[in-house]
Amino acid sequence: MSATLPRVFVTRRIPSSGLDRLQSFADCVVWPERLPPGRDELLAAVRGCHGLLSLLSDRIDAEVFEAAGPSLKVVSNFAVGVNNIDLVEAARRGIAVGNTPDVLTDATADIAVALLLAAARQIHPAADSVRAGEWLTWEPTGWLGCDLVGRTVGIIGMGRIGQAVARRLAGGWGMKVLYVSRTDKELGSPLAAERVSLERLLTESDFVSVHTDLSEQTRGMIGAAQLGLMKPTAVLVNTSRGAVIDQDALVAALRRGRPMAAGLDVTEPEPLPPEHPLVGLGNCLILPHIGSATVAARDAMAEICVDNLIFGLRGEPLRAAVK
Ligand code: DGY
Repeated sequence: MSATLPRVFVTRRIPSSGLDRLQSFADCVVWPERLPPGRDELLAAVRGCHGLLSLLSDRIDAEVFEAAGPSLKVVSNFAVGVNNIDLVEAARRGIAVGNTPDVLTDATADIAVALLLAAARQIHPAADSVRAGEWLTWEPTGWLGCDLVGRTVGIIGMGRIGQAVARRLAGGWGMKVLYVSRTDKELGSPLAAERVSLERLLTESDFVSVHTDLSEQTRGMIGAAQLGLMKPTAVLVNTSRGAVIDQDALVAALRRGRPMAAGLDVTEPEPLPPEHPLVGLGNCLILPHIGSATVAARDAMAEICVDNLIFGLRGEPLRAAVK
């Protein structure tokens, strides 16, 4: 590879819709393993790089920037969430940071609705019972769940994904939508939704879906007190970041049956160890963070991510810069 090409470390193989282009633009080293590079491997691999393509499972902080040295111009995260990156430190060093907004909105909203339905109708334990040979007969009072039609959904974080979930539930099931948001959002039509306090949302909603990003303000924002406000029949869904919910409090709440069930695509940590108490709870459905896992979404994420890197390496504004 020519010495004049910029050097880039890519922390995992991403779809070729982006990677092929990057490999013809830069001198790329792609981490070949299924698991992320360890800390020492990451620090060694970034040395002298001009660009870094990271995943949400890579902690990118001052130590990484220091190891890379002054050549590092751009970090492009293969995710919309950037809580794994020290943005303040990046800005202080003049390193541009990019992410992949918009293109995963529908895929993630679909998973939120899938979790909501699955948790509300006990799809997972019911299917497990068939596999376990426990399906004895049709039972008038067996596997009773709750209907969606006409119920109230509370959306925590009314950004792109929160709105996409609200649209699906309001349009498809005629649900009333309540939401909390840090800012007064312009909601695209057609969406009738009422902005309320978190307390009112938790008290009145039959379904609560979490879509806020993870920051110091939102870490643990759904704790014991908040869970205690939820209806005993409610379902809690999280497709944002696991640490927004206090998981110890959630274990205790689900054991008490209030809320009735939870559907989580995200946990803290990831992966959640199989012996974690949430994993063993029959009323908690956990997915391995697959919100954006569709062919189209991941291809589009790879394209934006690589555009961000190439633009940043050229010293141009990124296609999707994190402010
Ligand atoms: C993101 O992009 O932040 C999702 O959590 C993974 O696609």
